[in-house]
Amino acid sequence: MDKRPVWTSKYAFIVTAIGSAVGLGNIWRFPYVMGQNGGAIFLAVYIILICTICFIPLLNELYVGKLTQKECVGAYESINKNLKPLGALNPVTGILISAFYFIVGGWIINYIFKSFSSAGIKDYGQYFSSFISEPVYPCILTLLFIFLCVFFTARGLKNGIEKANKIFMPMLALILVFLVIISLNLPDAQKGLEYMFKPDFSKLNSHMLLAALGQAFFTLSIGMGALLTYGSYIKEDKTLVKSVYTIILSDTTFAILAGIMIFPAVFSFGMLPDSGAGLVFVTLPKIFSQIPFGNLISSAFFILLFCAAVTSGISIVEGPCATLVERFKISRVKACTILFTIISLIAIPTTLSFGLLNGLKIFDKTLFEFLDFLTSNIMLPLNTLFLCIISGWYLKINGQIIIKNKMSAKLFNFGLKYIVPIALICLIVAGLK
Ligand code: TRP
Repeated sequence: MDKRPVWTSKYAFIVTAIGSAVGLGNIWRFPYVMGQNGGAIFLAVYIILICTICFIPLLNELYVGKLTQKECVGAYESINKNLKPLGALNPVTGILISAFYFIVGGWIINYIFKSFSSAGIKDYGQYFSSFISEPVYPCILTLLFIFLCVFFTARGLKNGIEKANKIFMPMLALILVFLVIISLNLPDAQKGLEYMFKPDFSKLNSHMLLAALGQAFFTLSIGMGALLTYGSYIKEDKTLVKSVYTIILSDTTFAILAGIMIFPAVFSFGMLPDSGAGLVFVTLPKIFSQIPFGNLISSAFFILLFCAAVTSGISIVEGPCATLVERFKISRVKACTILFTIISLIAIPTTLSFGLLNGLKIFDKTLFEFLDFLTSNIMLPLNTLFLCIISGWYLKINGQIIIKNKMSAKLFNFGLKYIVPIALICLIVAGLK
């Protein structure tokens, strides 16, 4: 069995944790959820939630990892033997999330290629729906994306995970800044900025509040043990709270920049910001086809999306991988081969749920919709709820050990025991409707 790895430096940990947080959630999901929920007012609510309620479970998950120095199942088991099944829910969630997250990764690869040869496409909506419903090509791309994420994970913490993040994250930041500058220079760009930053208070409602909360939890990668596992590779860190702030601040900055990159372009071309999941795959390619150097800009955008998706994908695989390695005493390569097989077996029928297996419905949802619903609405918040209750009520973690400031430590204790669990229960109940 491989020896338990540790981070080579604090920088490596922070970049990798940011890499996990910044993903499709920021660049694909955030702009369209914001578009569907009223723009600026959603952003305001989101920022308040992410700095208050979401700060607590994020710190908690990393801290439990650091405290136990074990992967998920071992961590829960070391707290109490009977908690083992709850711990196991984390890697299971990871495997299920990866099965649908990686499909979008496959689409991105297609759009990188297509950026150079989009001349024949007339109707981008039509193109997108016919591409995702093809039987073979999207499956191959999904497998390729799974392979990439698993490949970096198999190479280990230092040579795979850290290295990939140290390459992809700066690249992502550079491309993002480049695209933001281009977008801000489009005619009527200020309309997009107004949409993002001028709140319309009449749009404030409970549905939007829950959408913001769900988005915040997802984007911070809370709830499937990815961060617990990353936390378990920390040996000494007296500044965990600072790291958490850095992760939150960076993640939010990336999401806002993604908005600044997308909305001015959308408004500049007279399109609507509320087109949902198709915003990035239909609306944007349409815009790219109408601007000078569109091919280049389009490929830069999809490479950006790819970097974000791979670094998050790696974190999704690392949780289950660490569990297999440490529970079954097998090598990383063996664990990753097993994971590649399991994830592919779930992902292929899920990819086909846009075409061949369209008719296969679970609770009236296609396989893709069902996995998204099951993981994002139920399993992620449930795992977080369990961990907060375990830390707050069973372990009775005292915030003062982690947070120096007395007042903040008290707020942390209170939030961990009451506010976060209540918010999570609301989220789960609302998600079930
Ligand atoms: N946070 C990532 C995103 O925004 C997705 C992600 C990676 C994730 N790891 C996770 C979500 C763990 C929940 C749990 O795209």
